[in-house]
Amino acid sequence: MIQRARRLRQNEILRKMVRETRMDKSSLVYPMFVREGENIVEEIPSMEGQFRYSIDRMSEKLESLKKAGVKSVILFGIPDVKDEVGSGAYDDDGIVQRALRAAKKDFSDMYFITDVCMCEYTSHGHCGLLCGHDVDNDSTLELLAKTAVSHVKAGADMVAPSDMMDGRVLAIRNALDENGFTNTPIMSYAVKYASSFYSPFRDAAGSAPSFGDRKSYQMDYHNRKEGIKEALQDVEEGADIIMVKPAMSYLDIVREVVDIVDVPVATYSVSGEYAMVKAAAKAGCIDEEKIVCEMAAATYRAGSSIYLTYFAEQIAEYMDRGLLG
Ligand code: PBG
Repeated sequence: MIQRARRLRQNEILRKMVRETRMDKSSLVYPMFVREGENIVEEIPSMEGQFRYSIDRMSEKLESLKKAGVKSVILFGIPDVKDEVGSGAYDDDGIVQRALRAAKKDFSDMYFITDVCMCEYTSHGHCGLLCGHDVDNDSTLELLAKTAVSHVKAGADMVAPSDMMDGRVLAIRNALDENGFTNTPIMSYAVKYASSFYSPFRDAAGSAPSFGDRKSYQMDYHNRKEGIKEALQDVEEGADIIMVKPAMSYLDIVREVVDIVDVPVATYSVSGEYAMVKAAAKAGCIDEEKIVCEMAAATYRAGSSIYLTYFAEQIAEYMDRGLLG
């Protein structure tokens, strides 16, 4: 036998030397929920170990993220009041805008991305303006652009539109440029599937649609080429980073997108993936630590270079312990 694959698997030092996929903390992004109110840190029932923070209590989490070496956060706002047109999303005194102003003051060395969408702010829970029972694409664009500008004015370092309206990257790019924010990057949730993996998030953010579903704007999970089309189109519209979401069940798409676009690709391991790991670990069916490492490595192996995950802080610690990276 000339070829013996096991030669390179003999011990940990060697295995690490020949490792094909490497990752580090600088590529981790932690999704964080901020809500109205004071002195609140409340656990999200469907996401054990994840919390909603009022602005005055956010710093505890930001501090521990920073200590762990996770410097990037994506913020999701949970307003008290919602209306038909989601006005809280683009209110300069909205929850995300105020959270940004507070966070940027105390954590100027961290990086704040904001999720740009309407669903947390609309009374009907859809990601845009309604026209009858459907979401109207073109009138929503204006509000998304307004939301993005208002986030950046409040201190957002990067905006991440997640609404899945057509043409929103271009609309946001134009609006940012007109306001002088030519250097603010856009990370587009370009390849976002209509997925049941988002349900714990909707519970966390109170953003489940009050009727129907999101299938007229988010993608059908039977489709692959359409994902490539979405990615290419968003790059053309000015997206600086392309995201694929969810992660675990969509790594084939991640690989294809990575191979075809010339911008960094991010993958979002979503709330349902987190909840499944937590539940299975609690039931004693799996080893959480090992599964989280395996999921993370798979995402990077698929080619993505940025990883948005509720496990970000844990993963940073696993990296410190040499379990991953
Ligand atoms: C807003 C948004 C959602 C998620 C990110 N941004 C929910 C949705 O589209 O229904 C999901 C994130 C997660 O499940 O962790 N549109």
